[in-house]
Amino acid sequence: MAKVVKGFSKLSKEAKIEWIAEQYFNKDENSIELLKSYWHADAPTQKLHDEFIENTLSNFYTPYGVAPNFLIDGKLLAIPMAIEESSVVAAAAKSASFWLERGGFKTKVISTIKIGHVHFMYEGDVPKLREFVKSINSKFYEDTASFTANMEARGGGIRSVELVDKTDKLDHYFQLEARFETCDSMGANFINTCLEQFSKTLTSAISSNNTFTEKEKQIQIVMCILSNYTPECIVRSEVSCNISELTDGSDISPEEFAQKFKRAVTIAELEPYRATTHNKGIMNGIDAVVIATGNDFRAVEAACHTYASRNGSYQSLTHCSITDGIFKFWIDVPMALGTVGGLTTLHPMVKFSLDLLGRPSAYELMSIIASSGLAQNFAALRALVTTGIQKGHMKMHLLNILNQLEATEAEKAIIVDYFKHNTVSHSVAVRKFCEVRGIKNPQEISKNH
Ligand code: MEV
Repeated sequence: MAKVVKGFSKLSKEAKIEWIAEQYFNKDENSIELLKSYWHADAPTQKLHDEFIENTLSNFYTPYGVAPNFLIDGKLLAIPMAIEESSVVAAAAKSASFWLERGGFKTKVISTIKIGHVHFMYEGDVPKLREFVKSINSKFYEDTASFTANMEARGGGIRSVELVDKTDKLDHYFQLEARFETCDSMGANFINTCLEQFSKTLTSAISSNNTFTEKEKQIQIVMCILSNYTPECIVRSEVSCNISELTDGSDISPEEFAQKFKRAVTIAELEPYRATTHNKGIMNGIDAVVIATGNDFRAVEAACHTYASRNGSYQSLTHCSITDGIFKFWIDVPMALGTVGGLTTLHPMVKFSLDLLGRPSAYELMSIIASSGLAQNFAALRALVTTGIQKGHMKMHLLNILNQLEATEAEKAIIVDYFKHNTVSHSVAVRKFCEVRGIKNPQEISKNH
C-alpha cells in the first residue's frame, strides 16, 4: 500500500514524479518517461503550465480543433474547440455550413449581471434590519470604492446591494444580495473582494448602532461568495429559415423533418431523461469553446443546469417553433465569461483562440459560445430524427477503434475506405481489421500486441 506523504507540494517536480513512480508504479521507468514525454519542449512554456496548479507532473493533451464557416451576426468565424469526443467538431462544422447558407446565427445578449451574496445569520427584529440595510446602502459603495474604481472606469461596478430574507428556508438566515456588471472580465475575484468588504461594513455598522440590542448585534457572517448561477447574464442565439429550405439530402420531406425536429425538442422540454442527454449534447458545443478560450467550464455547466431547472423540472435549453412556414430554433443560456484576466493573457493557446475569434468582448464571446451549443444540438437532433446518431458518431469513432487495435496507416486507409459504404460498429471494425491483417480473431490481436 502507498505511504501517506507530508509536504508533497514542496518537493521538486522530478522528486514528485519519482515518488509517484515508486509508490504506485513499482518504480517503473516507463511511467516516469511517459510523464516527461508530455512536457513541453520549451522550458519557460512548461514552467508557465507548471505554475497554473499545484503538484503539476506533466500536461494532459486534449485535441484542439476548429469548426469553420460559422456565420454569427454577419461575421464569419472559425470557432476553436478543445474536446476529446470524436464527433463534436465535425458536427459543429456541419451545422455551421448548413446555416451559413440560410442566414447564419443571430444573437442577442439579453442581460449581463452577475450576482453574489453575503450569507449571514441574524436573530432579531427583521423590519429594523431591513430599514437599516437601506439606510447604509451608500456605505457599501463608499467602502469598496478603491476596488471598484477601475471597473467603473470600464463601465462596470456594483449595480445594487439588497437585503434578502431567507428565514422561510432556514431560521435566522439572511443575505446581502449584490448585483455586479463586470464587463469583459468574468469578475469572480472582483465580486468576492467586494462581498468580503460588504460583510465588514455590515458587521461594523450594526455593532456601532444603538438601536440594535446586544443580541441583534451578534450577526454571524457565514460566507461571502459570488453565485455561479447567473440568470441575469443570458444570451440568445437563433437560426431560422423557410421550412422549404430545410432540405438536407435525407429521404424525408422538409415539412416532415421540421415536425420531427420540433417534436424532439418538445420531448426534451417535457421529459428530464431526454432533456439531460439533449442538454449534454448542447454542452459538447459549449464546453469545448469555453475551454479553448480559457474560461471556467464548471461554472458555465453549473449555471446552465440550474437554469434548465428553473421552472421546477429539468428542461431543454433549446426551443423550436414553426409559424407561418418559418422554422425557428433557438437557445437561451446563462453564460458568465471573461475575455480579459484569468488564463486569457497567460495560456498561449487561449491567446491564440481569442486572436482567432478577433479578440471578442465577453458579450461577443457569449454569442459565439451560445451559437456553438445551438449548432451542436441542431446536428444531434438532425441526425437523431433522420439517420440515427450512430452513423456519424461511429464513423468518427472508427479511428479510435483502429488506434486501439494499433492498426498501421496502410491498414487504416483500407478499413476507412471500406466503411465509406458500410455501417460502422465495433465488432464489424474488429472483424474487418482481422481480415486486413490476415489474422483469425481478436485474441490474436492481443497476442500480437
Ligand atoms: C453525445 O455526446 C450527445 C448526444 O447524445 C446528444 C443528443 O442525444 O441530443 C448525441
